[in-house]
Amino acid sequence: MRIYCEKDYNAMSRRAAAIIAAQVVAKPDCVLGLATGSTPVGAYKQLIEWNKQGDVSFAEVHSVNLDEYYGLAPEHDQSYRYFMQTNLFDHVDIAAENTNVPSGLADDPVAECARYEQVVADLGYADLQLLGLGRNGHIGFNEPCDHFPVATHLVDLTESTIDANARFFASADDVPKQALTMGIGTIMKARKILIVASGADKADAVQRAFAGPITPEMPASILQLHPDVTLVADEAALSKLKEANA
Ligand code: GLP
Repeated sequence: MRIYCEKDYNAMSRRAAAIIAAQVVAKPDCVLGLATGSTPVGAYKQLIEWNKQGDVSFAEVHSVNLDEYYGLAPEHDQSYRYFMQTNLFDHVDIAAENTNVPSGLADDPVAECARYEQVVADLGYADLQLLGLGRNGHIGFNEPCDHFPVATHLVDLTESTIDANARFFASADDVPKQALTMGIGTIMKARKILIVASGADKADAVQRAFAGPITPEMPASILQLHPDVTLVADEAALSKLKEANA
């Protein structure tokens, strides 16, 4: 595992963007696994800039997003489809038909999960999967539980995740209670993993994920078993991992 310790959010974002751009330059028709949340926003901004300057093109890229809230329409300003359009897709040369996000409005969410898993499998899984890290250690929306869910599935969000995401909604009551998410198995099939973390409130999760036991109670800890993981984080997010390794 490679760890990049960057001094702040901007430096972390530039480093993460450079790793994604390197993947796209090396393999222009690659499959990018993409993530939402506030952490990757700076990296997406940087990629938009490089795309506008002509340094990196997404024209042949396919993307697969990790997750989507169940019950939100793509046009809802808190849906992850909307997030991806406004933070990346609308500003770069990726083909709309090459972008994939689970549908939050499917009548049968379980069937939608199976369909989505097949889409990702048919693309050959991600060449590079970008991940954020929940404060409780979730990746995608794989919440702490008693097992590692393998494939894309419907999940009940934990109170901690609902609280953490309430800031984006009028109130915690408005946060959807379920989501469709790639499974741990879907994520682990990516050839490379890039996980980003910023800020002191992620320091515990980073430490437990990468220096603690591998347990479904800390979903990100499974990444210790992946052969090609890069963690890009700022000093605040790495503070406890550094102490653990000191
Ligand atoms: C959300 C997303 C995750 C994301 C996490 C952290 O719940 N489903 O994919 O990594 O929260 O978000 P943030 O980067 O805003 O801290």
